[in-house]
Amino acid sequence: MLLEQIKEAVSFLKDLQPARVGIVLGTGLGQLVSHIRIQKTIPYHEIPHFPESTVESHKGQLIYGHIGDTPVIAMQGRFHYYEGYSMQQITFPIRVMKALGIQYLLLSNAAGGINKAYTKGDIVLLDDHINLQTDNPLRGLNSPDFGARFPDMSRPYDPALGEILLQAAAALGHKMHTNGVYAAVTGPNLETRAEYRYLRTIGADIVGMSTVPEVIVANQLQLPCAAVSVITDECDPDNLHPVSIEEIIAVAGTADKKLSEVFAAVVSKL
Ligand code: HPA
Repeated sequence: MLLEQIKEAVSFLKDLQPARVGIVLGTGLGQLVSHIRIQKTIPYHEIPHFPESTVESHKGQLIYGHIGDTPVIAMQGRFHYYEGYSMQQITFPIRVMKALGIQYLLLSNAAGGINKAYTKGDIVLLDDHINLQTDNPLRGLNSPDFGARFPDMSRPYDPALGEILLQAAAALGHKMHTNGVYAAVTGPNLETRAEYRYLRTIGADIVGMSTVPEVIVANQLQLPCAAVSVITDECDPDNLHPVSIEEIIAVAGTADKKLSEVFAAVVSKL
């Protein structure tokens, strides 16, 4: 069933040139698109079996083009479990992009900062994650056609790709924290003070509602991936301020330019 759906989506998109890098743009993070020489924009609802973005801050289209000489597919808008889709649906585009030939996956997201060293608007390269979501995108995929049944996760984020991102950030003069540990929660509510305290205790630096399902699937597909979080709110349990999605999007917007410059510089080298 899922394999058939992937085939149908791929066959719908197959006339486009093979892309080398897949990019998933997180909440409020769309400026990378201005670095792409766009060949074609395809709304998700036109693509067989693609879910539709239900979140207003996510545009919901696939963008085909080049950054430098590198052919890319960018997802302007991603899918989240809290929207009501299954884990297999939210990670469907990753499988489709892999079948379309991508060799690298870059992901961005807006996330809460648990680590006291992070402030709003900072960008953080992920090194690892803790999956606290209540479901798994590999559940039930018992056929070897999907990849390993028990994928190794000892290095979920590709160290070489991470190094290229760090070098690009340094060359552009943009500070990027390293070694971030991302805790993935289901959402859509934000966390309580006690939950932020718990996340800090278990070793999380960042918390968000996305990315990890996509990274799990990328690892099953043996697709090297890297992810960068933008810190949109400071999750200090002893001094917690109410936060709204509007504020999260606004803060993401302030960091969008530097994140996009880093991604564009990296993609053009891949
Ligand atoms: N928690 C979970 N997800 C988030 C947060 C947060 O504080 N900020 C942005 N996305």
